[in-house]
Amino acid sequence: MTDINTLKNEISAQVSASADLQALEEVRVSALGKKGRVTELMKTLGDMDPEQRKTQGPALNALKDEIAALIEKQEKALKKQALDQRLVNERMDVTLSVRPERKGKIHPISQTMEELVTIFGAMGYSVAEGPDIEDDWHNFTALNFPPGHPAREMQDTFFLPDDPEQNGEHAKKLLRTHTSSVQIRHMKANKPPFKIICFGRTYRSDYDMTHTPMFHQMECLHVAKGITMGHLKGCLTDFVQGFFGIDDLPVRFRPSFFPFVEPGAEVDIGYFKKGDGIQLGKAPTPEDQRWMEILGAGMVHKNVLINGGVDPEEYQGFAFGMGLERATMLKYGIPDLRTFFESDTRWLNHYGFDPLERPNSATRG
Ligand code: PHE
Repeated sequence: MTDINTLKNEISAQVSASADLQALEEVRVSALGKKGRVTELMKTLGDMDPEQRKTQGPALNALKDEIAALIEKQEKALKKQALDQRLVNERMDVTLSVRPERKGKIHPISQTMEELVTIFGAMGYSVAEGPDIEDDWHNFTALNFPPGHPAREMQDTFFLPDDPEQNGEHAKKLLRTHTSSVQIRHMKANKPPFKIICFGRTYRSDYDMTHTPMFHQMECLHVAKGITMGHLKGCLTDFVQGFFGIDDLPVRFRPSFFPFVEPGAEVDIGYFKKGDGIQLGKAPTPEDQRWMEILGAGMVHKNVLINGGVDPEEYQGFAFGMGLERATMLKYGIPDLRTFFESDTRWLNHYGFDPLERPNSATRG
C-alpha cells in the first residue's frame, strides 16, 4: 500500500509539473507505457498469492485509472493553455492603419485624367480613344494641314517606316503630335452628333525645362446642330473653374491660328503675383491681373468636318486641346515637367495621390 501511495504521489507530481505536451507524454510512457512503473507493478500480480492479489489487484487498477485520469486532465489544461497563448500572440488589431510600405500612389497625370472624366462626364461627354502611332493623313492632312503647310513644322515628330499596305499619306507613319487626330477617327466611325473627350500620349521632338518628347493631351470635340462659339466659351469656363476649384477664375480668349479651327483661339486663365509666388484667380485690382495660356480651341473648320464625313451645312462644332502636364503642374504646384517621367518613387510619394483619399470634383481638393 505504501508503495502504491508513494508511486501515486510521485507520478501525479510529475504530471502536474509537465509544462508541455511532450513532457506529459514522457511521463505517461514512464508510468503507463510497456515498461512503465505502474505497468511493471501490475506484472507482479501474477506472482502474488490469491489473498494478496485480492487487495492489490483493485488497488493497482485504481492507481492506473487515477494516473490515466490525471494525465488526461493535464493534457486538456495544456492544450487550452497553448490555444490561449496563440490567441494572444496571433491577435490581429483591426484598428491599426495600413502598413505604409504597402501603399502605392496614383500618378498626378492619372489623377488629373480621372478628375476630367468626372467633370466632362457630368456635362454629357464620353471618352474616345485613338492610336499613338498615327498616319500623316489623320495627324495632318485631314486636319487641314496640307502637305508642305508651314504649320506642320511647328509639330515636328518621330517618323516610322512606311506601311507597305497603305498608299500616300496613309502609308506615312508617325507618332501623333496631338490628340486632334482622334477627332477625325471618331467622326469617320460614328454618326453625328458627337460629344467626346479623349486622353492620350502625344509626341514632339522637343526637350527642355518645359518640353518633353512625350507628353499627354486631352482633346474635346462637340459637334451638333447649331453649336456656336458661345457653347465653347460656356463649356470651357465651367470646366476650368471646376477643375481648378475657383468659381470666379477669369478666362480669356485670344485669337490664334490652328489649321483645323476657324475661328481659332488660345485660352488663358487669370493669375496674380502673391508674395514670392503666384496665385490663380481674379486679381485684387485689374492692373495686377496676369494671364497664362492653358489650351488651344476653336470652331471646327469646315474642311475637317468634310474629312470626317460630316456635312458642314448641317452640323457645326467646337474643339479644344490641352496639355495635361501643364494643367497638373498649375493645379498641384509641381515645378518641373521632366520629373513626371523620371519614375522616381520619392517624387511619386510626394506628389502622388493616395488611392483611397483622392480629391475629386466634389471635395475640390
Ligand atoms: N491640337 C492643338 C495642339 O496640340 C490644340 C487644339 C485642339 C487647338 C483643338 C484647337 C482645337 O496644339
